[in-house]
Amino acid sequence: MIEFKQVTKTFHSGNQTVTALDNVNLHVARGEIYGVIGFSGAGKSTLIRSANLLERPTSGEVLINGVNLATLKSRELQKAKRNIGMIFQHFNLLQSKTVFDNVATPLKLTRTPKADIRKRVTELLSFVGLSDKADNYPEQLSGGQKQRIGIARALATNPEVLLCDEATSALDPDTTSSILHLLKKINIEYNITILMITHEMSVIREICDKVAVMEKGRIIEEGSVLSIFSSPQHPTTEKFVRSIIPTGLPARVKEALQQKEPNRRIYEVTVTGDSSHSDLLRSLIQTFGIEVDILHATMNDIQGTSFGRIYFDLRAEPEILAEASNYLKSHPLQPKEVTGDARVAA
Ligand SMILES: Nc1ncnc2c1ncn2[C@@H]1O[C@H](COP(=O)(O)OP(=O)(O)OP(=O)(O)O)[C@@H](O)[C@H]1O
Ligand SMILES: [Mg+2]
Repeated sequence: MIEFKQVTKTFHSGNQTVTALDNVNLHVARGEIYGVIGFSGAGKSTLIRSANLLERPTSGEVLINGVNLATLKSRELQKAKRNIGMIFQHFNLLQSKTVFDNVATPLKLTRTPKADIRKRVTELLSFVGLSDKADNYPEQLSGGQKQRIGIARALATNPEVLLCDEATSALDPDTTSSILHLLKKINIEYNITILMITHEMSVIREICDKVAVMEKGRIIEEGSVLSIFSSPQHPTTEKFVRSIIPTGLPARVKEALQQKEPNRRIYEVTVTGDSSHSDLLRSLIQTFGIEVDILHATMNDIQGTSFGRIYFDLRAEPEILAEASNYLKSHPLQPKEVTGDARVAA
């Protein structure tokens, strides 16, 4: 649906060259909500703006439905662009026009008959829940309402793709949540593919199917939202995940991790979904007659799937502990012994 192939974009200002995109490859499938996250200056806006040719790549290509927009002549290009809606952090509404006229603008540009414009705008205003604001001006609306109008305008030409550049960054948490719900509704009801960029991991958690993490113009990690949240690989990704999921351990657990006792071992196990951690703990107790104590557990929920980490300790005679340890080594959940583990305790 949207494909970035070895896309590089460099900017020159004075005698400085900035590589905003550095050999980016990304594939967004039809119907997906794909999030791109990164710190300021990572290249996110440049990436999304190159999807509709607001920026032309220096090299590489961006394909929408298999077509490279950069190869199209102006008429075909205009038509192709109508298939891509975009919404912005600061809404970009025309202040001198009413809400109705703002939403109607893309339709007027395509010389849509007046009656059809009225029908479509009325339908869209009702979809975004602002039918009563048709005759108001943007300055009479709240931020959340302005973004709803921005969304209605972006949908006017019935696009298959919606690009969102920090669409909720200027909004408070409750309004952010309502706009994200609206985007999800658009994705489901109109089957619109959404590419969104953000610097907030909570936005990714709330509605994205997949996520890519950008740094210095490159994609450093990508995957399903669940896999990125449950096992981030790159330190920057970990930082983003930690921004909404605390990973620190209580002092009591840190202390326990540093003590070595011959009759005690401590393990860490990562669990996702309805995985078999309770079976694991039960079989340790039943098979080895071992005392199992849960020291600490965190559970999180990502779009209906839970994941988390459990720290448990085993207490028994050293021979029994050795047998249990062998059993755990071959267990599919791959619990890791962390007794005396300074890294975990840090
Ligand atoms: N038109 C331009 N001319 C020169 N440099 C640019 C231009 N646009 C972007 N850049 C540079 O490219 C890099 C990436 O910018 P970009 O706006 O894509 O980052 P971003 O990830 O969207 O950041 P933010 O989160 O702050 O919006 C930055 O170093 C920026 O200064
Ligand atoms: Mg930006």
